[in-house]
Parts: sequence; C-alpha cells; structure tokens
Amino acid sequence: MVEDIKKKIQELRKQINFHAHRYYELDDPLIADSEYDQLFQELLNLEELHPQLVTPDSPSQRVGSRPLAEFKTVRHTHPMLSLENAFNETELLDFEERLQRFLKSENDLSYMAEPKLDGLAVELVYEKGLLTIGSTRGDGRTGEEITRNLKTIRSIPLRLAAPGNMQLPENIEVRGEAYLTLAGFQALNEQRLSAGETIFANPRNAAAGSLRQLDSRVTAQRPLDFFAYGVSDTAQSPCSSQEELLDYLRKLGFEINPLTKFCRDISQVIEHFAHLQDIRPTLAYDIDGMVVKVNYFDLQQRLGSKARSPRWAIAAKFAATQATTILQKVEFQVGRTGAITPVALLKPVNVGGVVVSRATLHNEGEIKRKGLKIGDHVLVQRAGDVIPEIVKPVMEQRSGSEKTIRMPESCPVCRHRLILPEGEAITRCPNSHCPAQRLRLLIHYTSKAGMDIEGLGKKAMEQLFSQKLVQDIPDIYALQVADLVVLDGWAEKSARNAVAAIKASRHTSLAKLLSGLGIRYVGEEVAGLLEEHYGGSLHELMQAGEEELLDIEGIGPQTAQSIKEYFHDSEVKKMVSRLMDFGFTIVSAPKSPGERPFAGWVFLFTGSLAAMSRDEAKVRVKERGAKVASQVSKKVTHVVVGDKPGSKLKKAQELGLTILTEKNFADLLAGKDASPNKQQLSIF
Ligand code: IVH
Repeated sequence: MVEDIKKKIQELRKQINFHAHRYYELDDPLIADSEYDQLFQELLNLEELHPQLVTPDSPSQRVGSRPLAEFKTVRHTHPMLSLENAFNETELLDFEERLQRFLKSENDLSYMAEPKLDGLAVELVYEKGLLTIGSTRGDGRTGEEITRNLKTIRSIPLRLAAPGNMQLPENIEVRGEAYLTLAGFQALNEQRLSAGETIFANPRNAAAGSLRQLDSRVTAQRPLDFFAYGVSDTAQSPCSSQEELLDYLRKLGFEINPLTKFCRDISQVIEHFAHLQDIRPTLAYDIDGMVVKVNYFDLQQRLGSKARSPRWAIAAKFAATQATTILQKVEFQVGRTGAITPVALLKPVNVGGVVVSRATLHNEGEIKRKGLKIGDHVLVQRAGDVIPEIVKPVMEQRSGSEKTIRMPESCPVCRHRLILPEGEAITRCPNSHCPAQRLRLLIHYTSKAGMDIEGLGKKAMEQLFSQKLVQDIPDIYALQVADLVVLDGWAEKSARNAVAAIKASRHTSLAKLLSGLGIRYVGEEVAGLLEEHYGGSLHELMQAGEEELLDIEGIGPQTAQSIKEYFHDSEVKKMVSRLMDFGFTIVSAPKSPGERPFAGWVFLFTGSLAAMSRDEAKVRVKERGAKVASQVSKKVTHVVVGDKPGSKLKKAQELGLTILTEKNFADLLAGKDASPNKQQLSIF
C-alpha cells in the first residue's frame, strides 16, 4: 500500500519536473496551467498525508512552508570574502601590475570578466548532489541559514544534474548572487503599494528582504532568481580555471550569467567593461560593475587573500550616478573611539534610485579641500554599493550668503576640549569617559557587528545608559530581570529573554568578543585573524607586543599599535578582568597543527628569488604558521638565500643558522624533506 503511494508520488514528481522545465525554462508548456496546478495539488495532498515520504528535492519544497521562529546561523567552511574596487581603467591596469609584481611574471595573465549583480551573496551546500544547506554571507564567516527560502528559487537546483556519465561531486559549496529582475522589482513594489505596504528602495533591498523572511511561503511569492559564479574551495571541482568551473557549474544545473567573458589579457577586460557599461541600460537586471578574476586556479592559489578580499579578483565599478541638492546643515557626531565626524544634512535627493539625505564629510581637511559651505548647492554621487558622498560645491550657484563650516572646539556632548593630534586628520574627544563614546561603544558591543545580544538593540542600550543601569560593558552582565521589568517598554517575557541572551553571550568566540570591544582598527576581519592566531587565548593576546602582532598576516603597523595600546591601558585591563569575572568561556577555532606545519619557525629572506616575489614568499611561510624577521638574530630558524644575497648571509653563517637555497625552500613549501645538503650550499 505505502509502496503504491510512494510510486504514485514519484510519478507525480517526475511529471511536475518535466512540465515545470517546459514552462519555466523552455517557455513552451505542453499542458494547461490548470492541469499543472492539479498535478501539484495532488502531490501536496499525498505528501501531507504521508510526511515520511517527503524528500528534500521534491518540487513541493519550492512553495515554502510554515514560518520559523528565527534563523539558525551557519559557519562557512571558507570565509565569504568581499572585493576591492577599481573605479577606472588606470586602476584596472594597476591591479594587473600588482599581480605581476606578486607573481614575478612578465607574461600576460588571462581573466574571466563577469557582470557584478547587485543582489545578495549566498552559499549553497550540496552533499551527494542534494541541496542541504543554503545561507547568506552574513559577516563573511557565519551567515544565516535560509535553506527553505532558497529552495523556492527555481534557478537553484534541489538536486544537481549529471549529464552523460559526468561524476557528481561528493560535496560542493556553490556561491552566487540571488537577485530580482527590474520587472520583478517593479511588480513587487506595485503590489506592495496597493496593499498599503512600504516599498523597497532598490532591487538589492528587495532581494535581501525577500530572502530574510521567516515564512518561506512569502519568499516563494517573490520573483527571485540566481546566477552561480563560484565555489568556496576550487579543489571541490575537477576544474583548473574559472572558465572551466563556470562550464562545470552550468552542467550541474546552474544558470551562469551569459555576459561572462573569457579575456586573453587586461586590454580585453577593459574592452568588456566598456561594453557592459554600454548595454547596462538594456539589461533585465541592474549591475553595478564587473568582477575580474584571474582565470587559472594555480595562480589564484599563489596570490591568496588578504583579510577582507582575495588578491586575485577585483570589482570594476561603473561611474557613479550624480545629482545636486542643498547642504542644509552640518552635524558633529562623536564616534566610539572619540572621532568627531562632520555629517552633512542634505535636502533629500534621489541619486540613482536611492534617496540620500546625509553624507559624511569625514574630517576638517576634507571640508577645506572641497571648499564646502553651509547653504551650498552640492553635487552628490553614489556608485553601486558605495556610500554616497559630496563631490563638490556648485560654485556657479553661490549667492554669497553661504556660511563657513567650523569644527567645534569642544566636544558637542561632554564639552571636553577636542584635540587634533599632530599629523592626523581626525579631530578627537580625548575623554574616554565621554558619555557619547561610552554609549556608542555599548551600542556597538551588543549589536550584530559585536556580540549580537538579542533584545539589546540601540534603543534598549540608550535607555539602559540614560537610566544609569549600564555605564560600561561589564555592567551589562550584572543586569537582572527585576532591573528591566520596571522600565518603559519592557515586560516580564522580554526581560527574561534579554537576561538569558546576555548570559548566553558569555559563551563566545575570541573573534566575536574582540569585534565587540570596539578596538580601533579591529573589525570583524582583523578579529578573525587574531582568533586564528591566538585560538581562544585572550590572555596571550593581551600580552602581545607590537612586533608579535605585526607578524600576523593581514595586520599592519597601525592596527598592531592600536591593539597593543588598548590592552596596555590600565582601565581596559580592569574592565576586561571585571568582565571575565562574570564567567566567560571563550571557544575558539584555531588552525589545526596540520595546517600550521611551520609553527615556531622564523624565516629571514636575503637575495632575490627566481620563482616568486619576496612578498609571496613571506605570505607562503606565514600562512603555514611561521614568522618572518627582517634582521639576522639567533631567533631566526631558517635563512632563505636567493640571488645576490647581502651581508645578511655572512652574518647568518657566523651565527651558524640553517641556510636554505631556493630549491630547499621550494621543497620545504611542497612538504618534502628539505634538509640543506652541503653540496648545494657550497655555491655560497
Ligand atoms: S566573486 C572572493 N563574482 O559582489 C570573491 N562576486 O564584493 C568574491 N558579486 O556580494 C565574490 N557578482 O556576491 C563574485 N561574478 C561575481 C559576482 C560577485 C556579484 C557580489 C558578491 C559579493 C560582492 C563581492
């Protein structure tokens, strides 16, 4: 009996998939819509009666299901990075020059040039060909699990195809952009308008809003689409280039943007960029530029990534759209670290589909350089996902009544005298007790960018701060249900939930805690690098000197200095110790020893290497857990000698350090035994 039903269900699925393909992909249906709906309803009915027979790739999964209470988070096995931008031809040529320098190659590099859609980056995990998890990019390391919502998108295969005798990958994590067409966006907004709902500002927001629906039945009503553009780890594919990979993904059943082009060299890249810019107004969806990727994976591998973005790719952005408006007023904001930022309040103006009413003026120098005055007509521009900015005042429209913008001399909040440190551009309030700074820090600490404590959003933190219940981070952990229930807007339930969320946040990762503390120059990415290096040991990080921090790949001098100064401040030390007294457990995801085979080693390079640049050599050893020194000393464990070594070789020999030829070094990187032998060394 159940076997019969199972057969019937399988038959229905086969029919539905066939007719859906005729309808959605070939645009050539063989049966009437009503007949199709009937088949679908029959399937839904049978599955409802026999829920144990529902499979994850059943077409019924495309219609959504009961709402969730909240999204789970998923950690990406490989971080989802972002891209650096190039705004013109020169910057694309600079990109190629950087690649050549890093790779030490004179040859032309080939590229893939792909239209950059402005939607939402998502990751799709397929196990044995079946879509199991779909997630958003989130902060790049962890995203939200939105599998049910993604399953409603027709261009996302529920099961991978394997044409001919192609072998399916065991496990593959496909990445791409979920987006709305312009027509889909317009239709959605019209529908919302007539239902008396607020409309979405642009297709990107509409796509994001549609995918972050707890009720996947709502998502299923949105005309979302998907283009695949990559995988999380190129080793998961049998391909050796981006060009091959896109072909491979197409065979697995994904849509690849048809305007993607293989480019023999950078001049072809530039040509394609101009072409895309030309046809942009005719496209069915908005693009905000073009992504350029080094084609070959072996080269991508060598180039590697910086903290935020890969070295092997760049986003070439289209010229910005502009509009003019009036600069009505300037407000001064006090940031978390005391930076005073002038913000222009503008007469609201529509710039390329987005209403702009504020723009940061960055600092006093910027205001002077642009020559801005209050009352000016100003040219405002916005490029894709870049924050809007004021380009210049429109001098022809000056009436003479415009007023000079003056930086305040004292903090707009605590009245402390402001300082402009020698050689710096940013005016600061040096009073670390300044209420504005304190409050900003607290808001940041509990926000998504920090510890992400649910129930303690901006409003709640403002309230707790003004009620003097929370003045410093550790105070958050002393909060009791009884403190909260008596406040406006709180009830027993919300108070209990907030206190539970606070308690739960004590079990955290080092990266999250560091992001939350709001240390200057330490955002999510740097915090991630620190976690990778120090595992869960906050204690070890607090002891670190500048030099030690500088040895971490991706951390520069400014950041190293800032981290050291922060943890050496006696007030910070007291605050952290009070915080830890509340019983924190810091979990960590450090690199396994297998991934850090050079841990404990210190390399010194002298002379030039033939196969790679000095920069690449440094990256190669640091990513294996070693440090790099610039001076000869007893701490150095390996001296790598290239062509025309300097006096360092002699010094190293005098100290009796281990000396490697370039060949030894290459063997060591390849994991071969590379003990230097006497014969090779006699060349010195
Ligand atoms: S590659 C590591 N390719 O652009 C490489 N990204 O800043 C990063 N995007 O939101 C992604 N089209 O979703 C890549 N063909 C394409 C893309 C693309 C759009 C988005 C991506 C992310 C942003 C990267």
